[in-house]
Amino acid sequence: MTNPASSHADLRARDFKHRAQGLFHRWSENYDRSLLNFFVFRPAYMALLEEIAAWRAGRAARDPFHLLDVGCGTGSFAAMVRSSPWPADVTAMDFVPSMCRLAREKLEGTPAAERVHIVNGDSEHLPFPAGSFDVLTCSNSFHHYPHQDEVVREMRRVLRPGGKLILIDGFRDNAIGWFVFDVIVQRVERNVHHAPWSLVRRLFLQAGFTDIRHRKINLLAPLLVTTGIAP
Ligand SMILES: C[S@@+](CC[C@H](N)C(=O)[O-])C[C@H]1O[C@@H](n2cnc3c(N)ncnc32)[C@H](O)[C@@H]1O
Repeated sequence: MTNPASSHADLRARDFKHRAQGLFHRWSENYDRSLLNFFVFRPAYMALLEEIAAWRAGRAARDPFHLLDVGCGTGSFAAMVRSSPWPADVTAMDFVPSMCRLAREKLEGTPAAERVHIVNGDSEHLPFPAGSFDVLTCSNSFHHYPHQDEVVREMRRVLRPGGKLILIDGFRDNAIGWFVFDVIVQRVERNVHHAPWSLVRRLFLQAGFTDIRHRKINLLAPLLVTTGIAP
């Protein structure tokens, strides 16, 4: 017999994903022109780059590494990493085919095209073997995931020991963040969940991450940067 509570949760999860797909399919063509790039997305890319640089400090400059960007959107961050002097192989993954297509268009024919792989997939079931990556980034996408605990476990699975997870999403634990993310974004996007920092910390701990750190960036659209190291 079907458990009504679990079938309700399944329906809600399906609705979460369905909405995210519709939203980003409609938004994809104009995504790179959105003002949010200046206020939210670019500050997040800068924080990701800083965190990668901190992780690489003390390693040989030529030490290659493999980075996975989950919920990559139109591939802007993947392009930034490939244009950097870092010897990185980059895999960028998104749930929405039109976002993946735009990411391919952005990267094809540029020096960044070599060693960048664009994959269509769902963060809950990362289509990669265990221990495939050294760094995993995810910015402004986590609030669309109905099963955030499963996603963090998946992220841990695909990282090699010593690999770093860098997760950035709306910080809703102060008054400004609450108003921006829990009131405005919630009303516009519906079916999204900006996890409080304490929950993000718990999910990292439960997945087995060590050296977990948090910091807040951005004033008017505050973002929470959480990092952890795979044991
Ligand atoms: C606000 S955009 C952020 C994109 C990119 N990380 C950036 O900062 O520009 C959120 C992205 O998450 C993707 N997304 C939503 N749910 C997803 C899922 N379950 N698995 C993978 N990607 C997902 C969306 O398709 C969208 O491209």
